[in-house]
Amino acid sequence: PNLSVREGIEIIISGGMSVPQIMTTKDAQTIPAARLFKYPSSKMASSALICDTQPWKNLKAHVEDIKKTHLRDLLSDTERCNSMMVEFDGIVLDYSRQQATVDTVDKLYNLAEAAHLQEKIHRMFNGERINSTENRSVLHVALRAPRNAVINSDGKNVVPDVWNVLDKIKEFSERVRNGSWVGATGKPLTNVIAIGIGGSFLGPLFVHTALQTDPEASRFAKGRQLQFLANVDPIDVAKNIAGLSPETTLVVVVSKTFTTAETMLNARTLRAWISKELGPSAVAKHMVAVSTNLTLVEKFGIDPNNAFAFWDWVGGRYSVCSAVGVLPLSLQYGFSIVEKFLKGASSIDQHFSSASFEKIFLENQAASGTFRFVERMECFISWISCKSHLTLLPSLGEICPHIQQVSMESNGKGVSIDGVPLPFETGEIDFGEPGTNGQHSFYQLIHQGRVIPCDFIGVVKSQQPVYLEDALAYGKTAEQLQKENVQQHLIPHKTFSGNRPSLCILLSSLDAYRIGQLLAIYEHRVAVQGFIWGINSFDQWGVELGKSLATQVRKQLNASRTKGEPVEGFNFSTTTMLTRYLE
Ligand code: F6P
Repeated sequence: PNLSVREGIEIIISGGMSVPQIMTTKDAQTIPAARLFKYPSSKMASSALICDTQPWKNLKAHVEDIKKTHLRDLLSDTERCNSMMVEFDGIVLDYSRQQATVDTVDKLYNLAEAAHLQEKIHRMFNGERINSTENRSVLHVALRAPRNAVINSDGKNVVPDVWNVLDKIKEFSERVRNGSWVGATGKPLTNVIAIGIGGSFLGPLFVHTALQTDPEASRFAKGRQLQFLANVDPIDVAKNIAGLSPETTLVVVVSKTFTTAETMLNARTLRAWISKELGPSAVAKHMVAVSTNLTLVEKFGIDPNNAFAFWDWVGGRYSVCSAVGVLPLSLQYGFSIVEKFLKGASSIDQHFSSASFEKIFLENQAASGTFRFVERMECFISWISCKSHLTLLPSLGEICPHIQQVSMESNGKGVSIDGVPLPFETGEIDFGEPGTNGQHSFYQLIHQGRVIPCDFIGVVKSQQPVYLEDALAYGKTAEQLQKENVQQHLIPHKTFSGNRPSLCILLSSLDAYRIGQLLAIYEHRVAVQGFIWGINSFDQWGVELGKSLATQVRKQLNASRTKGEPVEGFNFSTTTMLTRYLE
């Protein structure tokens, strides 16, 4: 399996990924049975930017070309549409309103091949340190793997560790829920405040909001309350604790690093709130933690026995399936509901990583294969021409900010994974709104302003069908308006050009399992984008820069306030603003 040939260029014979041997094209001719494309050598992976490859150029030209055929005409081809409606494990995906044909799929395949997509997916699932700038594996998929799965990081199967923590969460959450773990005054802890920010907040919030619409999950949540505290604004803290008594409240401090300024400030504030009412010893009963940094958890005053670990191979924005999400959600809904959520995500993981990419292409329109293919690739058609992406959905409101972080923090990068400046912009601008809220806000822009590809996520049970996608695709012509006797001077204003792409994901219902599937679909969508662009989607140095500047400012403000030190070390504008603020 390690013998492979890249067409007309070089042969790679490799005993392992790290020690490839490159031979010349001349040598290649001596191996008649050699086939096109498999594993690349590291030399190949780093030598070229994807935009320099022929498949990229071909796709770009093709996308420009296909835009000339109106979606109205593409949608009249029933055979085409039929081949673009696919289904996997209860989710229907309709990409017939994408500006794409079967030929596009062909070109996307070539692009995937040029970017060594399948190889990169394998490396991720195999626990290789693909987050090279932080020297870490990227294994959030292990967080939802079945108990008997084997996923190695540094030669060690991480799945048993994952399940140890899951078992501990199950046990702890059951004790809290059934009242055998009580607060310092003996009262049951019916309210949970989860303190965290970014990935330690947005994912769990999305899943919580979605589960609230699931009757089964809601039944399990009866009599319980889960709130999230992210912002440091004292008003948010006040709002969070309004009406709550520390006696019946459990605070979960969620922070991968346990150093994030906002989270630690909020944690200290709530620790003081508990101590003030119930005495400092009550903290042990009323505060628990989720972190990779158990030393700092203990230093903060939380009993390490009441800390739930995760690992550096889980990126913050990919951590919802770790204790970060599982603990607060299990406290609210019970572990059995959360387990369904994990199973849903795992179903997509297995689909995403399993069947051979090449085989899928050859089978071409085989339903599940096409789903898998498109789930990874459709974004490129849109990205090439549009650069932004909108998610519209009935009752999954908080998925939008979550996707926003997963996508924008992952893929907003300026250099390739090898540090080569990119001559194209990566990342999309992701935004969205639940239900019809968007209609009364930004839909005007998507109808007649910019072309923004939309994902519509619909739910069959207890939701309204989606019609907007046709409005975007077909538009409305001047002729139609004339027939409707619209006044001549209004016709330009009421004309819709249409030809605006969208994608529809239809779920049979919105339960824990489907929510898990959705999460994984979007996580993998982002990974695929990053793999194709050739960037590292798993670091966030831009945010780290912001964090260190904030630390500098905070230090200065403290020094100025407490010791009267003048503001220095900043540029003119910042110095002026800080001085004004201090005055
Ligand atoms: O926003 C930057 C970031 O590092 C995210 O990636 C992360 O999810 C968030 O901060 C919170 O970090 P932590 O969980 O360490 O408090």
